[in-house]
Amino acid sequence: MAWVMIDREKPVPLIRQLYTELCAIILRGDWEAGQKLPSTRKLAEELQISRNVAVEAYEQLYAEGYIESRQGSGYYVSAGIYLEQHARHIEVLSTREIPVDSASQTIDFRSGVPALEHFPRTTWGKIVQRVCQEAPLSAFGYGRPEGRFELRQVISRYLYRTRGVQCKPEQIVITSGATQALTLIAKVLLTSGSRVVIEDPITQDIQTIFKTAGAVLLPVPADEFGLVTDQLPDPHASSPSFVFVTPSHQFPLGGTLPIKRRLQLIRYARESGSYIVEDDYDSEFRYDSPPISSLQGLAEERVIYIGSFSKILSPGLRLGYLVLPLDLVERYQSAKWFSDLHTPTIEQLALAVFIEEGHLEKYINRVKKVYRKRRQTLCEALERAFSETGNIRILGASAGLHIVVSFAGIRFSPVLLNQLENTGVRVYPVEEHALSPGRHTDKLIIGYGNVSEQQIEEGVRRLYSVLSSVENAAGV
Ligand SMILES: Cc1ncc(COP(=O)(O)O)c(C=O)c1O
Repeated sequence: MAWVMIDREKPVPLIRQLYTELCAIILRGDWEAGQKLPSTRKLAEELQISRNVAVEAYEQLYAEGYIESRQGSGYYVSAGIYLEQHARHIEVLSTREIPVDSASQTIDFRSGVPALEHFPRTTWGKIVQRVCQEAPLSAFGYGRPEGRFELRQVISRYLYRTRGVQCKPEQIVITSGATQALTLIAKVLLTSGSRVVIEDPITQDIQTIFKTAGAVLLPVPADEFGLVTDQLPDPHASSPSFVFVTPSHQFPLGGTLPIKRRLQLIRYARESGSYIVEDDYDSEFRYDSPPISSLQGLAEERVIYIGSFSKILSPGLRLGYLVLPLDLVERYQSAKWFSDLHTPTIEQLALAVFIEEGHLEKYINRVKKVYRKRRQTLCEALERAFSETGNIRILGASAGLHIVVSFAGIRFSPVLLNQLENTGVRVYPVEEHALSPGRHTDKLIIGYGNVSEQQIEEGVRRLYSVLSSVENAAGV
């Protein structure tokens, strides 16, 4: 029965695979209405699967009306199931799935995506399985909004060791990534008309989260060292709810806030009676020096610290956390409860084991080498390609998973970005994240976390092929 493709390597259960294949056969009309299906015994023998798999696949087809049963004589294809478009649809899908020459695929330099092919599937899978077998019954019921104590305890030790964050497990609330941490902050600290002092540029999503809560954003420019603290607004006149910063690695420009500016910021927060929200989304990846200490370690009572496992492990896990001043903890627990009760327990417990047994730090060290190499390939390829034009400047290369490149004399207009896209290279303009428009029109964010060295070389070649022919400073 060569027409049914079962692939034991696929991460899809055999029943599902068989069901999907049989659906397609019926919808395409390869088996006509009234045609008798092979017996489950025969099907199982020919495909070398267990008979139960065949029985369950047939039962599912029967339950959904694809096939009918006739007393004592087996299953038959139901009438009126043929779907003309299905054959074409399958063709379209299969041509899309055929691996095409990588040179003709779009190379996506999206920032903030880690090297997905390096995710430690085996170790993670084994730990999840172990946790699932060994966890107490309570792990399968409703949990506490702040998350499992096991994970909070491990995170508090990890943060102290690696980031100089001072906190007890009681100060931590586990969230669904940094994004939920940000929405909880908005929920607890913002009402209509609240002010937020914020770095400019900063991720558009973060601006949206605060604006949706009714906040008025007070942008303060960021330069290559991060927030320009000399330009903070008057602490008394502005009285913000908080100042939002990414001090370890400003997003997107990539600067690291120097200690003098950190202290200035803390003084500002004390004077204006506001909190500092420190978003520490990817600081473990620092290539030329050890990770920078957190702001939180300098002013525990003022700083709300956000961490995430999206960049250091996988964004698909949706695991992050808040470290809070003690007097805020209860309000955040309540906000988390009314948001989604709590983050999934088995994943929390698995992550606790993963960190406790040393896998996370081992993994970070391993992928750091991959990123260092990708970063070097990217910077060298750019410098080589644009050596003649001599108009590029690379910013923020010392940490993270992206760099920013300014191309003097070029403006990345929608038309130019489209032209790049049509040439098979996707890049992201800094200007998209700017609150005050016009200062970053010549800059691109180029993420290198999830692109191979070969793709990087090819992507830079495509970038150059378009940008070298842009004729005037206004772009196209
Ligand atoms: C500055 C910054 N903060 C937070 C996030 C959100 O991360 P998470 O996946 O943990 O929600 C991102 C995502 O790229 C980011 O760039």
